[in-house]
Amino acid sequence: MRPRTDDECPGGEPDWQHVAMDVDRLRAAFPALTTGPTAGLVRLDGPGGSLVPQPVADAVAAAMTSGMCQRGALTPAEQLTEATTAGARSAMGDFLGTDPRGVVFGRSMTALTFDLARTLSAQWGPGDEVVVTRLDHDANIRPWLVAAERAGATVRWLGFDPVTTELDDVSTVLSDRTRLVAVTAASNLFGTRPDVAAIAAAAHAVGALVHVDAVHLAAHVSVDRAALGADVVTCSPYKFFGPHLGVLAADPAFLETLHPDKLLPSTEAVPERFELGTLPYELLAGVTAAVDFIASYADVPADADVSRRERLVSAFAAFAAHEDALCARLLAGLDRLGHVRVHGSPASRTPTMLLHVDGHEPHRVYEALAAEGVIAPAGSFYALEASRHAGLGDAGGVRVGLSPYTTTDDLDRLVVALGRLGGTR
Ligand SMILES: Cc1ncc(COP(=O)(O)O)c(C=O)c1O
Repeated sequence: MRPRTDDECPGGEPDWQHVAMDVDRLRAAFPALTTGPTAGLVRLDGPGGSLVPQPVADAVAAAMTSGMCQRGALTPAEQLTEATTAGARSAMGDFLGTDPRGVVFGRSMTALTFDLARTLSAQWGPGDEVVVTRLDHDANIRPWLVAAERAGATVRWLGFDPVTTELDDVSTVLSDRTRLVAVTAASNLFGTRPDVAAIAAAAHAVGALVHVDAVHLAAHVSVDRAALGADVVTCSPYKFFGPHLGVLAADPAFLETLHPDKLLPSTEAVPERFELGTLPYELLAGVTAAVDFIASYADVPADADVSRRERLVSAFAAFAAHEDALCARLLAGLDRLGHVRVHGSPASRTPTMLLHVDGHEPHRVYEALAAEGVIAPAGSFYALEASRHAGLGDAGGVRVGLSPYTTTDDLDRLVVALGRLGGTR
């Protein structure tokens, strides 16, 4: 990237020493940035789903024509299907810092969470308590509410400060009746990153399970299931350059204790017993390619004797340095505009921001930005409880999400477009 002069930067002084990642090399892998109807657009809609690099699309296409059919050990087709499945479990094990034997694939994080809630709640009854937060995406709230209601269990809500968006003290909602705490590792609405490890420690101290939604976080940070203290962690590869499906990961020994609904002829083995029907093998090939794509951005020579997990940690550190520098630059640029407010001031955040432009409805801002080729959608993005609790109703705000492929030019175009919606200070 070309360093720019001060007066070119609406965000003020750039911090180039931190924006060291080769973003041009990265962007070259994403056809949607340069070809087709989305070419040239500023893509700040990553929290809704990232762009997909060519190697991931190639892997999916190759898998579809590879002759795979069903898993098994006898024929080459069976062996390939088996290897593709094992490869994706291994990739997600490395990605989440977890045992691949506890990696479950499903249609989406939402579907996996509904399934798990149904399974876990078979053990709940009146008097049991389940903790959900107002900060979470509905996919880590509603499944637990539905399951708790069916079981006659009580739901305890953990709120957050509507101004800072920091979660309240979890100890106020824990008791020796708490069976489960469901919490987000990062808010897809505000970018807020709660101290999940501390929440998990408090939950474990009362004997509760901890279910962590890492869907938003996993696009920005190397997730480590054990470090989070998550008994179960979920994510969705389409948020980090992969295909549309969901992943749930837990200790395989824990999964062995659970008995989900399943078909009679389908296997009792873990993790397969949690995977309903035939897996989308071509998408599993895409998952592996997405993880390998990220790992290839490690600040490590390609031939170095370094594990894929270590490469992923290194690559995410490079992505985070890039995104954090851009995020700081954007926050400064928005502050300079004067008529744009960023909702929340969390101590730790992802590079995802919810904006309000004085005098303009969020959807109107979305339209105005889109007219200038800047894609930053408006809404509450299924974090409906969060939007309402923060006083934003169901309309939410305008969400700006930075991705590893975001550039300073992208942010300049955003700030200039926002500037046209009001006066500058
Ligand atoms: C934080 C968060 N959790 C959960 C989900 C739901 O994921 P899925 O689409 O895989 O069901 C999303 C989707 O946007 C999300 O952002």
